[in-house]
Amino acid sequence: MPVLGSALLAAARSDGLRRLVASAPVTRPVVDRFVAGEELAASLAVTRELTDRGLQVTLDHLGEHVTDAAQALRSRDAYLALADALRGERLGTRAEMSVKLSAFGQALPGGHDIAYRNVLPVVEAAAAADTTVTLDMEDHTTVDSTLAILDALRERFPHTGAVLQSYLFRSEEDCRALAAAGARVRLVKGAYREPDTVAHTDRRAVDRAYLRCLKILLAGSGYPMVATHDPRLVAITQALAPRYGRAPDDYEFQMLYGIRGTEQRRLAAQGHRMRVYVPYGTDWYGYFMRRLAERPANLAFFARSLATRG
Ligand code: FDA
Repeated sequence: MPVLGSALLAAARSDGLRRLVASAPVTRPVVDRFVAGEELAASLAVTRELTDRGLQVTLDHLGEHVTDAAQALRSRDAYLALADALRGERLGTRAEMSVKLSAFGQALPGGHDIAYRNVLPVVEAAAAADTTVTLDMEDHTTVDSTLAILDALRERFPHTGAVLQSYLFRSEEDCRALAAAGARVRLVKGAYREPDTVAHTDRRAVDRAYLRCLKILLAGSGYPMVATHDPRLVAITQALAPRYGRAPDDYEFQMLYGIRGTEQRRLAAQGHRMRVYVPYGTDWYGYFMRRLAERPANLAFFARSLATRG
């Protein structure tokens, strides 16, 4: 990862910078590019707009790294309210939910059990709304716990999904295990700052690993969710999927809200399943900094708006 991206990912964990960035008057319009809004109602409006256009969504109530049990319960309750609202929308799996277990208490002492206890009712509520949950993947220290929680949830809710990050050395093995188990797997490159002892740091190596993981998932018995904005990987997936006997409804593409919207609509118009990851809520800082880190041009845009208006 370039030095700038790495510094931004370090900044994503800084409380001081969080306050500074959050209070800058020009921040909001830039954040709005990536975040649907602060309230549940705003996320539902975006959901309707996207599903009306033939896209699907996965909704993320923003929040991560909670530091006490009460905050974890508030995350759970926000998702229960979301599941309830989705039930009313009757969109089925066209609108699913993505959760970060660190928002459910995973990093607290005894966090593995706390996160499982908090996420279980959300997965139950999703099933009652005829939809599913996908567990986002955070930094590498959380992978074992997250995959163990996934296994436990899948005993009753086999459609619960996971995310695997191609930059981690371990992910090919994890892909093999989940592909054989018939799981829904969202494949991403990975968005956290990881040491070179556990992850590829060269972009081309991450791309090559993505391709190896993709082939494993396409060959397996699960449901691959190809989450990338990379035009090359999208084209390769379109070429490879039929060779693995996969029809367009045997896998899906996923992209983030605010990134390559024209391409999202183009793929949907071609008959592909295209799901947009829609974050909402007030705790947008960590998510926003990861988006800046992915692309220097985003940072330049942000810096320009600070300079011209500040
Ligand atoms: P890459 O970074 O090479 O970008 C390819 C092209 O896409 C760029 O050239 C640019 O045109 C465009 N692009 C990419 N990022 C952009 C940005 N921020 N702003 C503007 N344009 C951009 N990660 C993780 O660690 N855990 C997770 O749970 C998830 N979940 C997740 C869900 C979904 C639906 C998606 C699409 C992504 C994630 N990610 C994630 C993030 C993922 O790991 C990765 O950081 C980003 O998707 C960027 O990588 P790309 O594959 O898009 O390629």
